Amino acid sequence: MTDAPHIPVLLAEVIAALDVGAEAGSANQALIVDATFGAGGYARALLDRGAEVIAFDRDPGADPFARRLAQAYPDRFRLINRPFSELEAGLGDAGEDGCDGVVFDLGVSSMQLDEAERGFSFMRDGPLDMRMSQTGETAADLVNTAPEAELIRLFSLYGEEPTARRIAAGLVRRRSDTPFTRTLDLADTIERCVGGRRGAPTHPATRVFQALRIAVNDELDELESGLEAAERCLRPGGRLATVSFHSLEDRIVKGFLTERTGRLPSGSRHLPPVARGPEPSFSLKFTGAIGPQQTEIDANPRARSAKLRAAVRTDAPAWTSEPEGRRS
Ligand SMILES: C[S@@+](CC[C@H](N)C(=O)[O-])C[C@H]1O[C@@H](n2cnc3c(N)ncnc32)[C@H](O)[C@@H]1O
Repeated sequence: MTDAPHIPVLLAEVIAALDVGAEAGSANQALIVDATFGAGGYARALLDRGAEVIAFDRDPGADPFARRLAQAYPDRFRLINRPFSELEAGLGDAGEDGCDGVVFDLGVSSMQLDEAERGFSFMRDGPLDMRMSQTGETAADLVNTAPEAELIRLFSLYGEEPTARRIAAGLVRRRSDTPFTRTLDLADTIERCVGGRRGAPTHPATRVFQALRIAVNDELDELESGLEAAERCLRPGGRLATVSFHSLEDRIVKGFLTERTGRLPSGSRHLPPVARGPEPSFSLKFTGAIGPQQTEIDANPRARSAKLRAAVRTDAPAWTSEPEGRRS
């Protein structure tokens, strides 16, 4: 574990979107949920500005970073080791009935990516694992047992991989002799399946690794549930900020905010009018998404695809009143 393992992305912009410090001097200290704690870059900045922070991370690897923050801020900081889809239950168990801000910084941390043993990277040899929570089915389990049609579906849907069929067929052929256990073996096999690198700027395994990571960690369902939970937990005037790193994540956030701000797609004059939903539960903090400045990309290339979106909770009821598992 290094001292500066993960450089927080769009930090100043995220803090501004959460409006922390706006309550300074008032009796009410803002309670902000950092739904993706990582190494705590956002949490520390929020605590430094006087907020109380409840953080979530499903990776037990976040614990050592949380212990340091808990020492520095014993009364204002807690880490809950649960997925953010359980944000509402986690807050409830912590004795809170709502919060003033929620931030999601999606995807993997530099610690997860850089540590070969976690199995996220096609650049480092390690076990084919990819589990953020370090429990459940691994990427190796998935690659070695999923039917070929399922692999095609995952690679196409979650990796937007144009040669999904060819890669899935190659992997199924290879695994019948020798199952996959290592990241570099999988990356090399994918490279052979597509006939080498052919001058492509990215490694041919990039999209398949993204797809496996999303599937193993159920990332897109987690995001949808997390946004809905944030909607239920945020008090009127509370702020939502999301930082996404690829189009699948951003599409979900954008779709959620389009719907919840009442800006439904206007539809076509050839189709029946789109029914209006309930009262908007959010208003946009700013239109569109904010990306990093060139100086940030130069200092931290991992920031290059980041997109920040932000919204403010209205006083309308949440559109979904209960977590999915409990709906009848
Ligand atoms: C990009 S990092 C966050 C970095 C953090 N903002 C910082 O400044 O250090 C994302 C973190 O979110 C966690 N994570 C991703 N999906 C999660 C989920 N559904 N529930 C809880 N934690 C999650 C990952 O384990 C990882 O540690």
